[in-house]
Amino acid sequence: MANKKLVAGNWKMHGLSADLPEIAAIAAAASSYGNVDVALCLPATLIERAVRAVPGFAIGGQDVHSAEKGAHTGCTSAQMLRDAGAALTIVGHSERREAQHESDAEVKAKAEAGLAAGLGVILCIGESLDVRESGRAVEVVDAQLAASLPAETRDNLAVAYEPIWAIGTGKVPSVGDIGEMHAALRERLVAAYGEAGRGVRILYGGSVKASNAAEIFAVPDVDGALVGGASLKAADFLPIVAAAA
Ligand code: G3P
Repeated sequence: MANKKLVAGNWKMHGLSADLPEIAAIAAAASSYGNVDVALCLPATLIERAVRAVPGFAIGGQDVHSAEKGAHTGCTSAQMLRDAGAALTIVGHSERREAQHESDAEVKAKAEAGLAAGLGVILCIGESLDVRESGRAVEVVDAQLAASLPAETRDNLAVAYEPIWAIGTGKVPSVGDIGEMHAALRERLVAAYGEAGRGVRILYGGSVKASNAAEIFAVPDVDGALVGGASLKAADFLPIVAAAA
């Protein structure tokens, strides 16, 4: 049986209190799609206010530290996100792997911390353009997933395949390439978790928009999307949610 689709927005470093009405508009409309899970991963500063503004709608963070607390200036723990009312978090986004030099081992520890705190976790992986052009994308991303996966899965673990060269560029892999990658990632999840690996949702991310969402969602083993730029406005995001319904 196919997994219920998850369409999550990643607002990255966007969002002020002036954007709360936009979040409310997305949440109100999303509730009419009973067969799709919808979430928005917001900047930490906006999480608590968004949770109050749209009770019952899944608000998430974009990163967590792997430790529960301690001398980690500027960091946020999974417990803190939960305390703020978040339901989930992204970990291992390529922008953090690159700019903050996060390793697979650190991403794994973050994913484990998130799950242990009761958060849903969207674990990101994806290849650079060089790797894609070298023909080694599946091998490299599979190895990245194997090294980043939490030791045990939970119902609320998802993986997001985001080719780095497709993020914010308007470029998208062919549906054949997406299908090949997602099939390999599914095999890896089943190897790691047995049958439970079939229930881990595999999202695609990278330049998803209203015009390409339906064909991407039709690819086997694509269980939803992680959407950046097109998640900031209800008018852009809701058609993507509708395409998943
Ligand atoms: O995490 C989502 C993201 O990296 C994709 O961004 O703007 O290409 O949809 P975008």
